Amino acid sequence: MLELKLVLLLFLSVFPEGFATPSQVPVQLSEPQVKPPKLQGRFLHITDIHPDPYTIDGGSEKSACHRKKPKKAKRRGGYYGLPFSTKCDSPFSLSNLTLDFLDKEWSSEIDFVIWTGDSARHDNDRKRPRTTAEIYELNRALSRKMETVFSSKGIPVVPSIGNNDVWPHNIMMPGPNSVTSEFSSIWRSFVPFESYQVFQRGGYFSVEVIPNSVAAISLNTMYFYNSNKAVGGCEYANSEDPGNLQFDWLEVQLEHFRQRGMQIIMSGHVPPSSYNFFPECYIRYVNLSLKYQDTILGHLFGHMNADHFFFLEANDLANVPRRVDYTNSDKVEVLKKRKELYNGLLKDFAELPKSSQNTSHGDYGVVNVSPSVVPNPYLPSFRIFTYNITGTPYHPGHRGNQQLAAEDDDSKHSEQRLGDPEPAECDSRGNNSTQPCRPRNWHSSPQAPSRTNRLWTWLGYAQYYMPNLGDSDRKHPPKYKLEYLTYPVESLHPPREATAEAKFHYPIPLKQLPRSLRNATISSSKYAPYEVEDLTIPSWLELARRLGDPAEAKLRKRFKKYMYMGAGGE
Ligand SMILES: *[C@@H]1O[C@H](CO)[C@@H](O)[C@H](O)[C@H]1NC(C)=O
Ligand SMILES: *[C@@H]1O[C@H](CO)[C@@H](O)[C@H](O)[C@H]1NC(C)=O
Ligand SMILES: *[C@@H]1O[C@H](CO)[C@@H](O)[C@H](O)[C@H]1NC(C)=O
Ligand SMILES: *[C@@H]1O[C@H](CO)[C@@H](O)[C@H](O)[C@H]1NC(C)=O
Ligand SMILES: *[C@@H]1O[C@H](CO)[C@@H](O)[C@H](O)[C@H]1NC(C)=O
Ligand SMILES: *[C@@H]1O[C@H](CO)[C@@H](O)[C@H](O)[C@H]1NC(C)=O
Ligand SMILES: *[C@@H]1O[C@H](CO)[C@@H](O)[C@H](O)[C@H]1NC(C)=O
Repeated sequence: MLELKLVLLLFLSVFPEGFATPSQVPVQLSEPQVKPPKLQGRFLHITDIHPDPYTIDGGSEKSACHRKKPKKAKRRGGYYGLPFSTKCDSPFSLSNLTLDFLDKEWSSEIDFVIWTGDSARHDNDRKRPRTTAEIYELNRALSRKMETVFSSKGIPVVPSIGNNDVWPHNIMMPGPNSVTSEFSSIWRSFVPFESYQVFQRGGYFSVEVIPNSVAAISLNTMYFYNSNKAVGGCEYANSEDPGNLQFDWLEVQLEHFRQRGMQIIMSGHVPPSSYNFFPECYIRYVNLSLKYQDTILGHLFGHMNADHFFFLEANDLANVPRRVDYTNSDKVEVLKKRKELYNGLLKDFAELPKSSQNTSHGDYGVVNVSPSVVPNPYLPSFRIFTYNITGTPYHPGHRGNQQLAAEDDDSKHSEQRLGDPEPAECDSRGNNSTQPCRPRNWHSSPQAPSRTNRLWTWLGYAQYYMPNLGDSDRKHPPKYKLEYLTYPVESLHPPREATAEAKFHYPIPLKQLPRSLRNATISSSKYAPYEVEDLTIPSWLELARRLGDPAEAKLRKRFKKYMYMGAGGE
């Protein structure tokens, strides 16, 4: 703990003036030195590793890769696992190879790590049922590895609790309980001391990954997840429901960070979608996300294993989703939903306003769901985000501060200037059954980093995957390769007219690009299908509009290919 605090302090001391206040914090130089790297403008999102200690080389898929039998088995895992598997998890050889690769190739290129849970195997072998002790042991093993690879180098790691990190899976009682207390111990070096008490109760916390500038929030989505029968699911009448308590805490956090002029990354395991969250939890999530749109850089989740993104929409607040009984939602059900994901998303995208001019950008948030490390049911993967480390910070309008008025909320005056339509006529609650309405107290601004490219704005990501897992064996380890990236090709290299090439900040280090992309004269590439300028809300809406257009058959095909890693609709 001490060590992490020291790292944060040292970060402060090297940080450019203007958004750090080092004078308030004594820098302790007597502690052992972990030199913080200067900001690289990149972070890692890794999720759903699912390590499985029982996996053996040559294990049949039927036995979850735990045994050789049956003799005639068609599908068998190799030393590094079984690609496109419906039953096998990650052998430790695969999770080790992944983290060792990140250590060697990426740890000096990134500033922090968002790690969104499911760090134990699935319960998919009747002959070897999971135990609570085993789940904690697997989590401990991965946490120690994360510490070695990242924390020991001064890189903050932000883990979250997955639905398979508890026993029985999906079920977590209100805290404080043995789960929260065990994870307090397993994640001792990740959860800041100040967050310890709240974590003991709820299993969620916040951490300043760039001190005084950017914080990450690790949500405990178990209290929002509609498969968790041990909680009420944010029911309106119960203010003591653990989901409601978490949202109460979250709102205080968002308000507090906003007051300090900071930006937030939201993270957790189960994505905040209407079919994963209890309806009331979903409504509260959308409501808070849009209320603090000017403070939230983005939303990162896992759990689905399928690569996709979707929107949180003000519209959703007008139609409270009905409660569905998911009691029998088993694996098959989940797989079926995954198949429906592509069609469902395209349908949503097609219903977006047809032009940017007609879109109220204050009414949207973007959720990015990263695919998993476990090759179940696709291929191992991880994602590197780039963010802007130049320019001036965004200041939400403080009352009485005239100079900052230009950056004030949408609700005051800046909205129309940037082309958004006039807010619809709404009643005092911000409700109008015929119009999406924005309550007056929502904080959004076209000047916020989530809406325009400036300091801390997410610029793009590179998606890596392991296409040759199936051809690997112990002597021929599989390799991570670039699957695609979101950037325009020309932004990967210094502009041609640039004289000071040395100053150019490469979004992706050249050696992490395939050879064809290292050539600065290249103008288009199969690796760059989207070519979005940045990852602001308007850019995502523009991409979604294109995907929603049936005429964009080629683009849709790429989107689907990445979602299922080439496995069609499976
Ligand atoms: C994985 O790494 C851990 C820690 O470095 C080590 O103890 C373990 O033996 C490794 N397992 C495999 C299968 O490589
Ligand atoms: C959104 O939250 C506000 C409080 O910030 C509340 O007054 C409002 O009713 C909420 N809206 C919905 C649709 O739940
Ligand atoms: C909005 O108003 C409609 C009609 O008055 C009502 O049915 C609906 O429940 C309201 N929604 C919210 C979120 O308040
Ligand atoms: C925007 O909306 C208005 C009113 O609904 C419509 O007349 C106009 O054609 C729309 N503009 C575009 C570019 O879609
Ligand atoms: C809802 O919006 C419509 C169209 O903007 C407007 O005509 C109507 O008066 C509004 N209703 C309320 C209750 O504000
Ligand atoms: C970062 O934001 C600044 C504006 O504050 C802009 O000038 C610059 O081009 C952005 N950097 C990148 C790499 O997009
Ligand atoms: C880069 O691409 C250009 C145009 O296709 C080609 O002429 C040149 O040989 C390439 N350079 C390298 C180093 O591959």
